[in-house]
Amino acid sequence: MTKLVVFASGNGSNFEAILQAIENKTLNASVVGLICDKAQAYCLIRAQQHHIPFAVFNRSDYDSKLEMDCAILRQVKAWQADWLILAGYMRLLTSLIITAYPKHIINIHPSLLPKYKGKDALGQALANHETILGVSIHYVDEGMDTGELIAQASFTITPDQDRDSVETTLHQLEHDLYPKVIGQLIKENL
Ligand code: GAR
Repeated sequence: MTKLVVFASGNGSNFEAILQAIENKTLNASVVGLICDKAQAYCLIRAQQHHIPFAVFNRSDYDSKLEMDCAILRQVKAWQADWLILAGYMRLLTSLIITAYPKHIINIHPSLLPKYKGKDALGQALANHETILGVSIHYVDEGMDTGELIAQASFTITPDQDRDSVETTLHQLEHDLYPKVIGQLIKENL
């Protein structure tokens, strides 16, 4: 069984969508752990609810990013991860982790990359009066949302939609797309 380790910093709704897909048997994999960099993040509650092991890494506990990633790498190796799945992990990975999992680290980002990299991509797109929005899934490199694209999906917003409603549509798209793309990548790499 292919082993996934999910990385998240906040709510963890994409983490939950992956767990649901596994529970519904639409995704043939297992989540062997959750890496989180925020001790109060809701994704940790989700991990507990689903009996998924988790580990929290606080940046302030380490002298450097490299030391923190070294500890994270030890943990994902201990869990024997095949794939690292970034799902709202709001931190760049150092090359230490990236080179340890070539083409096996992916991220989901709430924009049609290469547009609107970084934080609050939806806010950036809305401020720019975009009407076609979307999500991207890409391999992770050292840059911020710069890795090779794997999949994208888009939707058109209607004039009556407020930010909350757009965000709901966007998350639904993410929750549908991410488990499917993970499943596809696993099949291609078997
Ligand atoms: C998602 O919308 C994801 O695309 C975004 O964070 C959100 C996490 O939501 N990721 C990025 O912006 C990465 N640059 P979640 O915690 O509910 O899954």
